[in-house]
Amino acid sequence: MRRKLIAANWKMHGSSAMAQNFVSELSLMLEKSPVKGLAYDVLLCPAMPYLGVASSAVEKCGSAIKVGAQTVNEFEQGAYTGETSLGMLQDLGVQYSLVGHSERREIYGETNELVAAKFVACVGVTDPAVRPILCMGETIEQRKAGQTESVIAEQLASVINAAGIEAFAKADIAYEPVWAIGTGETATPAQAQSVHQFIRAELSKKSESLADSVRILYGGSVKPVNAAELFSQQDIDGGLVGGASLDVESFAAICKAAE
Ligand code: 13P
Repeated sequence: MRRKLIAANWKMHGSSAMAQNFVSELSLMLEKSPVKGLAYDVLLCPAMPYLGVASSAVEKCGSAIKVGAQTVNEFEQGAYTGETSLGMLQDLGVQYSLVGHSERREIYGETNELVAAKFVACVGVTDPAVRPILCMGETIEQRKAGQTESVIAEQLASVINAAGIEAFAKADIAYEPVWAIGTGETATPAQAQSVHQFIRAELSKKSESLADSVRILYGGSVKPVNAAELFSQQDIDGGLVGGASLDVESFAAICKAAE
């Protein structure tokens, strides 16, 4: 059984106060008091300036909620203005990082090669680990042209080739069709399941056991109304939630759909 992961990607939204209050409110809603732990993993990915605040808030309320970054630089340190290293994330108690989100690919020109380099850097650090969530997905033009599987296969292959299949023991994947992100248009559970199954089949060409154990999250207009049906699909192991994760009640409802 794969343990589900429900992740919030706040993108460039939020504030210190929001991060702090969100953690304590979410913890109360999901974990109650005393903390009983969760049957699934919950992750918050605030903007870089609020990672430390979120981490401290998690520690303060003794919560099992995890904190992740939305991106990370592939180098250890150096003259990379504006960038954040893995060591800095570790320093702030950050346990996950998204890698290759479609907004990073589309707006900031991140190529499959760069995404692979970031993934390799993430799985290369331990003590504490920073687990990459490799994001992939096709645009509407690619879907209409019948290229969904070839695009996904290429995005996945570049990472497998660079990191090796074994690296996926320390990583998660998120399938986010670009046409469903922030559009209110969700992939149907059947559409999502079909791509998730394809991703697993691609992985199983290299390792059946890893293909079976890797978590594949769905992202793209996940909301309280559609979460349970999406999460009940055989190959969908949770969600990566954008807009609906900015409101604590709505995100808590999505988390509860994983129960
Ligand atoms: P929305 O849930 O707003 O569609 O965003 C999805 C996403 O990009 C999460 O990473």
